[in-house]
Amino acid sequence: MANVNTGETGLVPISLSVNGQTHCLQVESRITLAETLRGPLHLTGTKIACNRGACSACTVWLVGLPIASCMILALEVGEREVTTIEGLASGDVLHRVQQAFIDHDAMQCGFCTPGMVMSCAALLECKANPDEDDIREAISGHICRCGTYPHVIAAVLDAATK
Ligand code: FES
Ligand code: FES
Repeated sequence: MANVNTGETGLVPISLSVNGQTHCLQVESRITLAETLRGPLHLTGTKIACNRGACSACTVWLVGLPIASCMILALEVGEREVTTIEGLASGDVLHRVQQAFIDHDAMQCGFCTPGMVMSCAALLECKANPDEDDIREAISGHICRCGTYPHVIAAVLDAATK
């Protein structure tokens, strides 16, 4: 990464576009996108579990593609649009994957759920009628200690019909 001039405060001015809104922030150069979302932006739907790219709990979209937000620094995002679980619904209307997760009881503690929903919604964006193997592949990086995987697959198959 290029050297970043942090000035006397140690903070870097950045502009982040999240869920259609632009935020001007001063951040430490070491802060991740996940920490920035949950901290200064109060978007706590994005979860941090392993904080090392191993569980996918922190999945958000970067220009429509799912990424682990704990593995990218906030200042690396630049002008690219970030979408979080809070930006997936249209007002009070849930995204069809969110609704299907509710309908199919695809969550228990819910800690993995926002990340899982983001990956499943991204799958439907690029493949309208996924089969079970497609869904397994899409969620293969997600660790759910509660074992909701069969319900998640049923939910995504259902969401694809909506
Ligand atoms: S918290 Fe980011 S991958 Fe686990
Ligand atoms: S619902 Fe508890 S970790 Fe997935």
